[in-house]
Amino acid sequence: MKIKKSEIVAVTGNPSQYPEDNMKEIAFAGRSNVGKSSLLNMITNRKKLAKVSSSPGKTQTINFYEINDKFRIVDLPGYGYAKVSRSLSNSWGNMMDQYFNTREGLVTVIQLIDIRHEPTKQDIQMYEYLKHFNLDGIVVATKADKISRNEINKNVSVIRKKLKMEDHDIVIPTSSLKKTGYDELLDIIEQLIEL
Ligand code: GTP
Ligand code: MG
Repeated sequence: MKIKKSEIVAVTGNPSQYPEDNMKEIAFAGRSNVGKSSLLNMITNRKKLAKVSSSPGKTQTINFYEINDKFRIVDLPGYGYAKVSRSLSNSWGNMMDQYFNTREGLVTVIQLIDIRHEPTKQDIQMYEYLKHFNLDGIVVATKADKISRNEINKNVSVIRKKLKMEDHDIVIPTSSLKKTGYDELLDIIEQLIEL
């Protein structure tokens, strides 16, 4: 698959403003600052489609991007951002529940985890939450350019173990900086969309 066209179609936390058709969607979930927006830019070959920031909590809405007029990638707001007030983290939970419960076109959620660190408690909870919705276990391990090849293999095993992943569950190390993992991720997205 070649991505020839990508455009933002909705930026909102309000379900009444989500796109109404049931075009297939793949969502990106993960801790604030893990690299969700950067991964979207990598996939679409665009530098500024999604806003990237070194301060966590940049994306606090659900952002819908339409790809090749065929499917959508959805950038979900990050979790684990300490400065977010309690009321906002509740609205975060509501936003997520709403989203997961209502999107008919939702094919899967790809969870992003920073390859440098052990999955956090919230990463583990998020993964369990996704499994509870029967979503496949696809993890993208981000920022692979920051560690050595040996460490990549070692840390992928730690992620697998901590999340209690099964053999058929997939972990793809990526680097948005170096475009590592691009082909593998795109192949998986293509397969999921064609199903
Ligand atoms: P929120 O919108 O706050 O939830 O964050 P996000 O998950 O969208 O993260 P974002 O893409 O904004 O990236 C956060 C920071 O990590 C930025 O400074 C990026 O440049 C950096 N970053 C993201 N991906 C990579 C990567 O693969 N390698 C390196 N070295 N840095 C990365
Ligand atoms: Mg973001």
